[in-house]
Amino acid sequence: MTFRRALHEKENDTGRYPRGKFFLIAMLCSFSWYIVPGYLFKFLSTISVLCLVFPKSVLAHQLGSGQFGLGIFSFTFDWSVIVYLGSPLVTPFFAILNILAGYVVIVYIMIPVAYWGLNLYNAKNFPIFSTDLFDGHGQSYNVSAIVNKNFEIDNVAYEAQGRINLSIMFALAYGLSFATIVATLTHVLLFNGKEIYERFRASYKGKIDIHTKLMRKYQDIPSWWFHTTLALSFALSLLLCTVLKSEIQLPWWALIFACMIALIFTLPISIIQATTNNSPGLNVITEYILGLIMPGKPIANVCFKTYGYISMAQAVSFLQDFKLGHYMKIPPRSMFVVQLVGTFIASTINVSTAWYMLNNIPFICQLELLPKNTQWTCRGDHVFYDASVIWGLVGPKRFFGPLGNYGALNWFFLGGAIGPMLVWLLHKSFPKQSWIKLINLPVLLGATAAMPPANTLNFNSWIVVGFLFNFFVFRYRKKWWQRYNYVLAAALDAGVAFMGVFIFLAFGFTNVKDLYWWGNEGEYCDLANCPTVKGIQVRGCPLIK
Ligand SMILES: *[C@@H]1O[C@H](CO)[C@@H](O)[C@H](O)[C@H]1NC(C)=O
Repeated sequence: MTFRRALHEKENDTGRYPRGKFFLIAMLCSFSWYIVPGYLFKFLSTISVLCLVFPKSVLAHQLGSGQFGLGIFSFTFDWSVIVYLGSPLVTPFFAILNILAGYVVIVYIMIPVAYWGLNLYNAKNFPIFSTDLFDGHGQSYNVSAIVNKNFEIDNVAYEAQGRINLSIMFALAYGLSFATIVATLTHVLLFNGKEIYERFRASYKGKIDIHTKLMRKYQDIPSWWFHTTLALSFALSLLLCTVLKSEIQLPWWALIFACMIALIFTLPISIIQATTNNSPGLNVITEYILGLIMPGKPIANVCFKTYGYISMAQAVSFLQDFKLGHYMKIPPRSMFVVQLVGTFIASTINVSTAWYMLNNIPFICQLELLPKNTQWTCRGDHVFYDASVIWGLVGPKRFFGPLGNYGALNWFFLGGAIGPMLVWLLHKSFPKQSWIKLINLPVLLGATAAMPPANTLNFNSWIVVGFLFNFFVFRYRKKWWQRYNYVLAAALDAGVAFMGVFIFLAFGFTNVKDLYWWGNEGEYCDLANCPTVKGIQVRGCPLIK
């Protein structure tokens, strides 16, 4: 609501500070400050009080680390850490509250109980919060040993090295993602089903709102624009799957299957997204399906996920952009062209940047070999890679099936299905208690869906800043908030982005020009990555006898 008002509000600057000037100044401040946590004094990105006070205690590091622990008394002065989950300034307050509730239950109750209380899945043999893959002895799993030269699984080597284990946070994250997907479907069916059905019918009855009436002025997009784009990209993909079959690993029928999934789910998912601002992450489902059909082929699994889930997610965000364009009265044809050109530019630049960085930054993404103060750790890519090993290479049968350790996590599917029904029954039995309806299980269960790769400090700082702006500033400085909040959000993000690029161009090409001093040596929470059980020896960790 406020966002739309901000778009439509008349510029009326008499006696007030102009928004354009405010934007420039805020952006300059953000730009100049970011060189400190971004390059000169990276310690300010993640300050962990507990790790500094108790440098020798594994427990203190596990509790205090914002990157590999629970993030208690951990702070940041780095805007890029705070906006990792999206800008807290533009997230509505109720959404922050929902996420806070789910986050606290998951990170400060479930994970500690599972780790220290139950030692679930031998949790103490491994770090509490890690995206690494481990063997049964708490050492990191040697994935290259179980891959043959065609990037397929080598069954003999796999049997020799044994099952892959996860940290408790990572294992529970998968369980929660199972629950979230199913809970979204049941929740939406029970609470929004009627509304969605009616909207769906109304959209065919030709009831026209004011926006649609105004948009009639413009020429509509001819369908053949869409059909040609679809045909071209499908033909290219098919070519890729047949010509580069041994690299891509994905057979043509799986490509068609992936496209069917994207086709079938785009409409329901976008309706769910539009009515609840929350959509189920089908990525795990696509990984699960192809992992069952074609185990042992990691690249095929990743490609299937890309075609089946990521293309659908892109379609939904394409529709969202069109919706914004609809409200802003942008001609649809210009919108289409801009989106298409933007896609070409973005994909070309993304691929060439990634290519360039992989070839020019020493040890990029290799955590063991990188210096400690670096930003080239590739958090997100590590999780993507883990998924290709778990679902593709090893396969769900050896992980979540009878041959794996984590079969019990499948019960999260059932829990996710039943949970919203219980809430709904409670709501129907006590209709006067209006708060029951506000329990949104998909949001609560999915609160930590971004974790991994997001860490606890990303969440803590995001929640604190979100509270500050959406609660205190909104409450006590409402005029200021209405006028400047979104401008400030954009200015802070832009400043950080520009300085990030500047740092990269000026110093970042190699690790040589990095500054080495106490304030650039990371978080000082190294022991957070240690196991806490007797007899497991890991490099850099105390041996518990
Ligand atoms: C992992 O396995 C490969 C292939 O067997 C071997 O060359 C490599 O040294 C191993 N790495 C570690 C860290 O053990």
